[in-house]
Amino acid sequence: MEQIKIFLDEKDMPRKWYNLAADLPTAMLPPLTPDGQVVTPQMLEAVFPKNLIEQEMSTKRWIDIPPEVLEVLYQWRPSPLRRAVNLERYLKTPAKIYYKDESVSPAGSHKTNTSVAQAYYNKKFGVKSLTTETGAGQWGTALAYACHVFGLECKVFMVRVSFEQKPMRKIMMGLWGANCIASPSNETQAGRTILKSMPDTPGSLGIAISEAVEAAVTDKTGRTRYALGSVLNHVLLHQTIIGLEAQKQLKKVGIKNPDVIIGCAGGGSNFAGIAFPFTQEKINGAKIDIIPVESEACPKMTKGKFAYDHGDIAGMTPLLPMHTLGSQFVPPAIHAGGLRYHGMAPLVSQAIVEGLMRPTAVDQLHSYEAAIIWARTEGFVIAPESSNAVAQVIKEANKAKKEGKQKTILFNLSGHGLLDLVGYDKYLSGKLESSQVTSDEIKRSLERVQKVHVAPMRKTGKW
Ligand SMILES: Cc1ncc(COP(=O)(O)O)c(C=O)c1O
Repeated sequence: MEQIKIFLDEKDMPRKWYNLAADLPTAMLPPLTPDGQVVTPQMLEAVFPKNLIEQEMSTKRWIDIPPEVLEVLYQWRPSPLRRAVNLERYLKTPAKIYYKDESVSPAGSHKTNTSVAQAYYNKKFGVKSLTTETGAGQWGTALAYACHVFGLECKVFMVRVSFEQKPMRKIMMGLWGANCIASPSNETQAGRTILKSMPDTPGSLGIAISEAVEAAVTDKTGRTRYALGSVLNHVLLHQTIIGLEAQKQLKKVGIKNPDVIIGCAGGGSNFAGIAFPFTQEKINGAKIDIIPVESEACPKMTKGKFAYDHGDIAGMTPLLPMHTLGSQFVPPAIHAGGLRYHGMAPLVSQAIVEGLMRPTAVDQLHSYEAAIIWARTEGFVIAPESSNAVAQVIKEANKAKKEGKQKTILFNLSGHGLLDLVGYDKYLSGKLESSQVTSDEIKRSLERVQKVHVAPMRKTGKW
């Protein structure tokens, strides 16, 4: 009988995070200010605590996980590695499909891996209160939980369309003592400006980030900071515990490296979490097809460009070298709210430029089709973001069948969908629509990307 659940003991949980910046063959381009200066640590101090800024800029390969963070992570980690044998049988594929199940965290997704670390470092630095944005609500709930654990206040700006689609998320945040507000809101200058020009906007992560950063930096007590749920180096770093655990678990069933690795990618942290430790193997010679999956409604990796761009709509963040659709881009209101971000993490973007990763995009209807197949084979109801990864897994498993190859596919199941049933209901009643953006819309948005500072495409040509 196949082993379908592979567990690790707490004592075998990784004690260090892995930093891909140490191994990328070309050094990362630095973030810039709008007038082209390289961003210094001091410039970020109004937004983040010093200890996290240090991590953000670090090129050290391994960074210790503090015991206080491990203590909290033990609550649900190591997360199980499971094998999707029912899906394999349904597809009649020779491929073995393994997945890390990140839905088992208190908030229901991978986001808790970094929220706990960020709340810990902020608390240690003397911060009293955190602000943040959230798309689908997963990150907001994860930060609400972590702030509760470390005794911090928490304010969450939730993208309006998700706020309306997923009211239960607000309740969950409230349960841990956080305050959740629909964005754009009247609480900030950025929100008021947007509401004036676009009163019916569904909102976007870019807008919500502007509001949350503004709320943090304008707090006169100086004891509020901002926390980001994806994109930045330190966030991706905290997620690498997923891939590091997966390496140990695969070893238990005799697998050193999978042939294919898949993760859905909004800002890139979920994908980086599973992929980066294996990307190190690829840099050192392993043959692995590493696939970040985005939504066709927000195709920055497959149709955007690599450029210096702001992480938010109001231009409050530094310019980051990344794949972007333009910081003014407001994607269609798909149910996978966590994939509605205009940019991709700089570390993932540089790995794509280098050729280490092969991005792809999935349409909303196909992702729901995949989620239904998953629920009817594997049983679990998954988050709409995760279903984009499953759609790609099914494609790769069918390809393996066609080629008659016994591949190992590994993917990250980023979260459960128990609070996302509205989208499922729409799909089952035939009301869910395919959701793509036209090339004209993308062209118009990209024309507004700032062009003063060019992000050179640097690659070694090895991959
Ligand atoms: C369940 C789930 N999966 C994936 C993502 C995308 O996350 P990331 O920004 O880490 O790529 C999100 C974002 O909110 C999410 O909630």
